[in-house]
Amino acid sequence: MSLELVGGTREDMLGTAITSVGNAEGSPVRIPAARYHSPEFAALEHERVWPRVWQIACSLDHVSQPGDWFEYRVGRYAVLIVRGRDGELRAFQNACHHRGNVLCTGSGQGLKNLRCPYHGWMYDLRGQLTGVPSHKGFGKDLDRGSLALTPVQVDTWGPMVFVNLDPDAMTLAEYLEVVPEDAASFDLDSFRCVASMKTEAPANWKLVADGFSETYHVQTLHREMLGCMDDIDAGQTIWGHTGVSRQLYGVASPRLVRSDDTTIWQSFVRTQGERMGITEPGETPPVPAGSSMLELIAQKIRDFQRETKGIDLSGWSARQLLELQQYNIFPNLTVLITADLLQVLCARPGATPDRAELVGMTFEREIPGTPRGRPFDVELPLDQVDFGLVLNQDIALLRDAQRGVQQPGFTHLNLSCEEARVINTHRNLERYIGIEPSEITGGPAR
Ligand code: FES
Ligand SMILES: [Fe+2]
Repeated sequence: MSLELVGGTREDMLGTAITSVGNAEGSPVRIPAARYHSPEFAALEHERVWPRVWQIACSLDHVSQPGDWFEYRVGRYAVLIVRGRDGELRAFQNACHHRGNVLCTGSGQGLKNLRCPYHGWMYDLRGQLTGVPSHKGFGKDLDRGSLALTPVQVDTWGPMVFVNLDPDAMTLAEYLEVVPEDAASFDLDSFRCVASMKTEAPANWKLVADGFSETYHVQTLHREMLGCMDDIDAGQTIWGHTGVSRQLYGVASPRLVRSDDTTIWQSFVRTQGERMGITEPGETPPVPAGSSMLELIAQKIRDFQRETKGIDLSGWSARQLLELQQYNIFPNLTVLITADLLQVLCARPGATPDRAELVGMTFEREIPGTPRGRPFDVELPLDQVDFGLVLNQDIALLRDAQRGVQQPGFTHLNLSCEEARVINTHRNLERYIGIEPSEITGGPAR
């Protein structure tokens, strides 16, 4: 199979730390632009990718109690995730085996059984068919065992619930490679989902995900961040399905010719001040002798968490609070972790190749002594969503980015090694789809 990429093989990238700037050898990696708008490519993704990959469906908080359910949809696929009376989490294809109607939509609590709203076939929470109205009409040999709901693989990483429609797929633990171990020091199990937000984005799902898979755009699109982020030494590692970028905040970008503590303070407050409960920079707080602005910001985050939520972050170092771990899990998931926050961004295909569904989930450390609650889920039109200054800048760009990739003269993306995680998404897509370039582009790369 041809990878239809120029500039290094997949194996070149795996397991290697990649520096952000400079590619001494080789040439840009070229990827056909048609992958971002072609209905044929979108059809291949629907046929060969989405039914075979592990993908985040919801949070554990959505299905924490017996009788909780959540319907996960991606493209034409619908999966019903149910917490059984025995406490087990199960998932099924959301289709009644009578005439195929879906059993549940949305999410909810208190389910005792699954009753199809069309003709009333009844299933228990294990997916077994338990009731068929007027069953004599189906004959005396109706085999209920063979009419159980079709199971879907379901598993969790920390408070995140993943599903895979392929019964023969590798386990989630295998799929996630070293990522859970790499992130283990952050104790993800103590995070709880407090809110999720869903919106429709005017771009292909990959264009949305790509924006969360490289920091190359920070120097242009997010200039406000340069005062408090080292975007140059942000190392990346690619493992296979997964990759990571580690970005240190609380220091100024080496790109800035002049910077001081005020630069860092003002930039941090402007772009992430809510982590300290501060929205206006005001006077720059003095940095104690022998300390640093990074230490000072870390302490203010700890103080904010303790004073407002009773959460003790003293066990985490300043670096664990201010070095963002940005994991990318093929195909569409970005997981952002620091000691005080866990945020999930997920892009799914929309109704057409130039549209996507963007879902963000926000997690906070559990408050000691507080029972598990249900997340606050909202779905909003794009012009009403507010993901904060930086993500809003990413989202505002999408419409124009999609218009651009559809122009006939724009045949290929030209990618830098700094965009290694975008390249890795395409290499995985090629593996799952098994395509020859000519199927999509009508010819070799120019
Ligand atoms: S389709 Fe479900 S009972 Fe008829
Ligand atoms: Fe961005």
